[in-house]
Amino acid sequence: MNEARPTTVRLQKLSWAFTQSAVLFAAIEADFFSAVSSHGKSIEAIAEALSITEQNTQRMIVALLTLDLIERDGEGFRNAPDVERFLVTEKPSYAGKWVHWFHHQWNAWGELGQRLQSDGPEATLGFYNEGFTVAHARRYHEATASVGRGAARKFLREVDLTGRRKLLDLGGGSGAYSIEAAKRYPELTAVVLDLPEVVVISREFIAENDVSGQVTAEPCDFTADDFPSGADVILMNSNLPQYSGEIIQLVVQKAFDALAPGGEMHICGEMVNEDWDGPLIPAMCTIHGALFNSTALPHTPSDCIGYFEQAGFQDVKVREFIPDILQHITGRKPDKA
Ligand SMILES: C[S@@+](CC[C@H](N)C(=O)[O-])C[C@H]1O[C@@H](n2cnc3c(N)ncnc32)[C@H](O)[C@@H]1O
Repeated sequence: MNEARPTTVRLQKLSWAFTQSAVLFAAIEADFFSAVSSHGKSIEAIAEALSITEQNTQRMIVALLTLDLIERDGEGFRNAPDVERFLVTEKPSYAGKWVHWFHHQWNAWGELGQRLQSDGPEATLGFYNEGFTVAHARRYHEATASVGRGAARKFLREVDLTGRRKLLDLGGGSGAYSIEAAKRYPELTAVVLDLPEVVVISREFIAENDVSGQVTAEPCDFTADDFPSGADVILMNSNLPQYSGEIIQLVVQKAFDALAPGGEMHICGEMVNEDWDGPLIPAMCTIHGALFNSTALPHTPSDCIGYFEQAGFQDVKVREFIPDILQHITGRKPDKA
């Protein structure tokens, strides 16, 4: 009855939301959080450590306090716990390259309105089609590896691969999951399958991690090429939102056909919930189709269960993997398919 009269406040805040990303990107570029960590006792000390003016330091401090990225600490400042762990450069847990990664899409998002008008033919590989060079793939996977290795270790704490012999890692990128799996299971071999520009980088990561005896990387477009046979585990992580349901169904079917009887498939991917009203990152990922002319469409847990069951998988289950970002779906190929 007495419904509050709508105001423009929420809309104005949303229209300013891009400035939050800008502040975060700028702070990472300036290494602001490392300065707060080591020189947080005053604005003057932070400014001196960063060689930026006290005025600009003060401006950033106000924005970062407002975004809860830093906190007051007596007369000075300290980083919020997640910032201290992941955005201070010298920490082994540094993930700034990933948190900063989407800065390169700044101009594309600024053109979203124009790009929505496009009705050109969709390209299966979307943004992997154009200008995707080895140098770009190296920057991309230095970024993905900074979070992927931690995610892979979490995955392996939660999924027992004891007794498994051969893993295929579709779109394996830096090889994070294969490398961590090889370290944990000395009897396991793994093949990272990825686009040709990426495989060059996967091989660098494999060599750096001393797992060349167990992990290899081969060029493959998983939407089009055949998969090697004999695997008893297939992963496809962080690839869902780039593709339509039709293409994911095809890939899941190819994986099912390639798996040994009794084998298992896992997809950790960005799924939107059943009502399509979130979470934020999977929802925004679905816009990629308009931004990069790909086939991207939203996938819900029910959609994904459908892809697996239609392919012939049993014991299909979905659970949360990385809260609000990645859901994990798994299924098992029957012993006698
Ligand atoms: C977001 S990264 C994820 C990398 C890795 N799975 C992880 O979770 O750390 C997606 C990867 O999938 C690869 N990819 C996307 N489409 C592909 C396709 N059609 N065939 C092979 N690889 C593909 C990309 O090149 C990229 O390396």
